[in-house]
Amino acid sequence: MAHIAQPLLIRQIILYIKGQSGLPVYVGYLFAVGLCISAILQAIIHQQILFRNSRMGMRVRNALSSAIYRHLLTINTAALHKTTAAQMVNLVANDAGKFEELSIFVHTLVLALLEALGTFALVWWYIGLPTVFGYAVLLLLVPIQFIFSRKFSQYRKTTMACTDKCVQMTNELVNGCQIIKMYNWEKAMEQRVLEARRRELLNIHKVSCLRAVNTALSFAALPLISLATFGGSWLMGQTLLPENIFTTLAFFVMVRVSVTVGMPQAIEKFSEARVSARRIDQFVQLNILSNKREKMENENEDYVIIMKDASFSWNDTPSLISVNLKIRSRNLVGVKGAFGSGKSTLLTAILSEINLVSGQLRLKVNSISYAPQLAWVFAGTIRANILLGKAMDEERYKNVIKACCLDIDLQNFSEIGDLLMIGDKGVNLSGGPRARYRLLVLYTLRLTYIYSTIHLLPLIQR
Ligand SMILES: Nc1ncnc2c1ncn2[C@@H]1O[C@H](COP(=O)(O)OP(=O)(O)OP(=O)(O)O)[C@@H](O)[C@H]1O
Ligand SMILES: [Mg+2]
Repeated sequence: MAHIAQPLLIRQIILYIKGQSGLPVYVGYLFAVGLCISAILQAIIHQQILFRNSRMGMRVRNALSSAIYRHLLTINTAALHKTTAAQMVNLVANDAGKFEELSIFVHTLVLALLEALGTFALVWWYIGLPTVFGYAVLLLLVPIQFIFSRKFSQYRKTTMACTDKCVQMTNELVNGCQIIKMYNWEKAMEQRVLEARRRELLNIHKVSCLRAVNTALSFAALPLISLATFGGSWLMGQTLLPENIFTTLAFFVMVRVSVTVGMPQAIEKFSEARVSARRIDQFVQLNILSNKREKMENENEDYVIIMKDASFSWNDTPSLISVNLKIRSRNLVGVKGAFGSGKSTLLTAILSEINLVSGQLRLKVNSISYAPQLAWVFAGTIRANILLGKAMDEERYKNVIKACCLDIDLQNFSEIGDLLMIGDKGVNLSGGPRARYRLLVLYTLRLTYIYSTIHLLPLIQR
């Protein structure tokens, strides 16, 4: 309302200055004050809309990011093969952010339409038929905006694919930098990263060119619309009055901003958000930890794990075929086999991290503790690495440390003992094979400390 009131007040002021309205002096001042107040009101409301929209956008982004993280923690290892770390980083860093960008413009889609219709009626009221010419030019810009939006969407898809590749390559480079340096592959790897980055930049450049054309078009819109309206009016032999010209121009400026600046941005952001929504949706569709495994109903049964003709697969071809297995509770079971014969896969199958293709997997467990074949520690104290967030049970902790012979190692760290800080991947543990040994001990400790129904421990080569 404050927006639409301004051209109307301008018209009244012009009529007053021309002296045609015959109104007293104070009414002229009232119009001027009214114009000032409506401009201030419009600014305040506009900022409030932006503030509330941005806040909503931030909440949507945070909700999406946490949903992505939460889903990531529940998907199984087999499904993880369908995505990459880089893609997931991009989902949180870029895709979730697209909804925040959209939220700033989201009201423009409705507002632009309402303003265009309201303004059309008012301009028609003042100058009649020539309004149609101006609006014809304006309407012509709308399909062009849709074409632009499709193009933006296409380029965004390819740019995101390139960005995924670029981030993935940089990740691999950083992780494998020791090997790269050892083999002197720096130059070759640099070329590969630069090539990926060049491809990404090329797509960004195309989008920027398209955006430049789009912006130029939106700036050219006002002169084109005015030319069509006033040219049409002149051709029809109408007299152009200053109050009509200024009012119409003020209305067109208003419509131009929302239809040719606000709406294209909203459409662009909307199509980008749609692509991001699809990417997030694809990620969310990835299998969560298989629910195919059944909980055993019969509590009297003494078995904790039962597999009946169970086949499991990492991808399309089954890795374990028709496994029949029954494991009683309170039993220590060992599985032996050649390298790559599927021992770890069997443990992964019990964890439901691999797809159950056919047969049955039944478990009677409350929790499973699992030590992966590759040992890992996170940055923190040795104690934190053993407890893994569980409550400290002094007696059990001491017993476990003693049983795993870590007490001898801890003595080496003098009074700091198990409060010694160790880095990511155990980098500040002493070097050589002892570090690896300690890592292995750590994660065996971790496993034994946790109260679980089943402990899964793969063979460890020292
Ligand atoms: N995460 C995975 N994704 C895809 N395939 C896998 C994965 N882990 C194992 N495999 C495949 O499953 C098969 C069995 O491997 P697995 O790791 O279970 O063998 P293993 O018996 O534990 O060997 P090792 O004694 O060397 O530890 C192999 O062909 C391997 O390529
Ligand atoms: Mg293994």
